[in-house]
Amino acid sequence: MRGGAVAAFRGRIVAAGPEAEVLAAVEPTPDATVVDAEGRLVTPGLVDCHTHLCFAGWRAEEFRMRIEGRDYLEILKAGGGILQTVRATREATEDELFDSLRARLLELLRLGTTTVEVKSGYGLDLATELKQLRAIRRAALWAASPEGTGQEVVATFLGAHAVPPEFAGRAREYAELVAREMIPAVARESLAEFVDVFCEDGAFGPEEARLVLEAGRRAGLGRKIHADEVHHLGGARIAAELGAVSADHLAVTPPGDFAALRDSGTVACLLPATSFFLMKPRHAAARELIAAGVPVALGTDANPGTQPGFSLPLVMSLACLLLRMTPEEALVAATRNAAFALGRGGRAGSLEPGARADIVIWDCPALAHLPYRMGANLAHTVIAAGRVRVSRAGRDAETSPREARTFPRAAVPGLSQAVAPPASPPRSGPPASRPRSGPGDREGDRR
Ligand code: NIG
Ligand code: FE
Repeated sequence: MRGGAVAAFRGRIVAAGPEAEVLAAVEPTPDATVVDAEGRLVTPGLVDCHTHLCFAGWRAEEFRMRIEGRDYLEILKAGGGILQTVRATREATEDELFDSLRARLLELLRLGTTTVEVKSGYGLDLATELKQLRAIRRAALWAASPEGTGQEVVATFLGAHAVPPEFAGRAREYAELVAREMIPAVARESLAEFVDVFCEDGAFGPEEARLVLEAGRRAGLGRKIHADEVHHLGGARIAAELGAVSADHLAVTPPGDFAALRDSGTVACLLPATSFFLMKPRHAAARELIAAGVPVALGTDANPGTQPGFSLPLVMSLACLLLRMTPEEALVAATRNAAFALGRGGRAGSLEPGARADIVIWDCPALAHLPYRMGANLAHTVIAAGRVRVSRAGRDAETSPREARTFPRAAVPGLSQAVAPPASPPRSGPPASRPRSGPGDREGDRR
């Protein structure tokens, strides 16, 4: 849509559509502020529905090893990979994890991401997993505080990410411990909304994955699964069977498993930057998933091993080039459908009344530019929970290589928040809609 407008009040969208209609529907408060996108692309804030951002230590040496031909799962088997990050994360303090996570959230904000899921999974013992989840909770509270970024942070418990050294060769026993002791402990403190499991050769098999996800269900947690990332173990079918909100990766899932996902309403969360970074020949069959009626989301999978990048726009580029998704499909996947993958459909990642007022103005004239300008950070103005959090106003983003290092809390000259009260109160709840497998009618509009 050209010439559109969005109005927000107290951090929520109250009207969106053609400018004249929005202006007719709302009456600005005296302190209302107006942001003029000046013909730039406007989208919902991006939703990253799959990250492992709470960790200590990077793994550049492993990157070098993989370039030389070593295999990711072989490195894990030899005690490296995820287990290297586990050693570093066990040594880190909660404060250190919190501080690094905060810095990473800010980095994501600058790239246009306003909702972020963060998994634990680098502790693999109760104390360290709880330490990670507490750091994530603190980061979530900080983000939502007046000093924060305005992002919404969603916690997932991934205690079954790898078999810890103490349980080497006894994956089943460790999965039982996760199910019997760790999940109830996490649920008791309400430290996570979702439970996840890495269903893969060298990690956890289908039976162990079921054990963990069923315990999550009993504890009232939503279910997610790392399914068919490297080998096809049937994780997608398990996700469908256990009513998982998403099945993630699906790089080698055969099309025969797609109908089960469609029937259970499970979102296929595709992570093309990971299969790319692992130099895999095969990527998720996005076209076939969409054709089968499965809602497709995109995430970064940001983690120190298989995908160290934070940029969802870059993931959108890879989704177009490697998975042959259209720019429209990629945007819906990284916003609206990603919100459904976090149980927040219609409440985030969407410019509709009742949704969080998370809005990004991009320094480009139309949607296709976003994936086309691969690797560029085109985020010009990032509004989260109704406030401008990042702005490049007054700079020529094309010629200025430096991004704003500051974190403006007040509105910048010429730009401020779009805040206006509704003429009539907004609908109280989100519309009971399902995620879409095709492009939306509002997303990707030019305003
Ligand atoms: O989604 N595969 C399991 N977990 C992550 C990688 C984590 C790591 O290597 O540290 C993934 O690829
Ligand atoms: Fe992952």
